[in-house]
Amino acid sequence: MSELLLRKAVSTGELDREDIIGLLNIEEPEALSRLFRSADEVRHTWVGSEIFLRGIIEFSNYCARSCLYCGLRRENRLLNRYRMDKDEILAAAMEIKKHHIPTLVLQSGEDPVFTGPEIARLVETIKRDTGMIITLSVGERSFTDYRDFYNAGADRYLLKHETADGELYGDLRPGNHLSERLECLSLLKALGFEVGTGNMVGLPGQTLETLADDLLLMKRLGADMLGIGPFIAHPDTPLRDAANGDLNMTLKTLAVARLLTKTTNIPATTATEVINPGGRLRALACGANVVMPNFTPTGYKEGYAIYPGKTATAPGETTLSKLRKNLGIIGRTINFASGFRVKP
Ligand code: 5AD
Ligand code: SF4
Repeated sequence: MSELLLRKAVSTGELDREDIIGLLNIEEPEALSRLFRSADEVRHTWVGSEIFLRGIIEFSNYCARSCLYCGLRRENRLLNRYRMDKDEILAAAMEIKKHHIPTLVLQSGEDPVFTGPEIARLVETIKRDTGMIITLSVGERSFTDYRDFYNAGADRYLLKHETADGELYGDLRPGNHLSERLECLSLLKALGFEVGTGNMVGLPGQTLETLADDLLLMKRLGADMLGIGPFIAHPDTPLRDAANGDLNMTLKTLAVARLLTKTTNIPATTATEVINPGGRLRALACGANVVMPNFTPTGYKEGYAIYPGKTATAPGETTLSKLRKNLGIIGRTINFASGFRVKP
């Protein structure tokens, strides 16, 4: 049954909820390789074999929110908090540029000290001084903020929907609503940003039905980038005793996302590497086409502990030469272009 489904997915990109659940249910090794191979083939056909890079700078680990899964949640008093200043951020951006990576991602917790106008000024300065493609990932903000970010020169925005189950979303993100998240995503899209969304795989309370809804939502939103990574329990959060997400389920979700959306940019996330060494390369072999090396300076990077083990895999992160070597082994090369979504 999965063979027919796969053929349908490869040729049309259309799968319904039942189809997706069927694919996520695959466990038999041969059927699993067929799913991964199909996603790899679709990736090759639509976005080629090159890997695009985005250098990430995590400029503040302060957060006003209380997401049950995240180490940056405001109740976590065990975390050393930091904010990078403008010069430090600019220096990190220059470092990324020096490595010929054309895109930078500015990410932080929802830190109210970095106001909308402040972030807009930062974007303007970086754009002026470096000419780089700028991606922001600074959470839910007002329409005015988003508009100012766009006018200041930001090109892309990442805002993962996290889970498409509204009730689970509300439980895991106290005081927040999925509908508001989706509203932000549609504002961002309307303003002209390339938009990224995504989920976590293996959240406590998540079912295959929820994952199927995540995937259908990613497609329905017409997102340009999809971040899919396993949940990893953080010892200093209320979910400390929950089980981690599973590598195969993460890879299956990623593979189906590629089958459904064809031309999206899909990173092989750090979390995938953290739950399973080698996970990043496996993600690249079943649909992913982007790697995001971490350029947060040593001394700060350790503090951006969203989940445990994250910083250990990020020493300049994957140094570029090491990455190149690993990619060579799986027959892939790096493309140093900006890597906007190819329009089908
Ligand atoms: N495990 C895995 N990913 C997490 N994130 C937050 N907490 C965790 C965790 N415990 C992810 C969320 C968020 C991104 C910045 O990090 O998906 O969007
Ligand atoms: Fe803050 Fe984002 Fe972590 Fe939630 S997931 S606590 S909003 S950094």
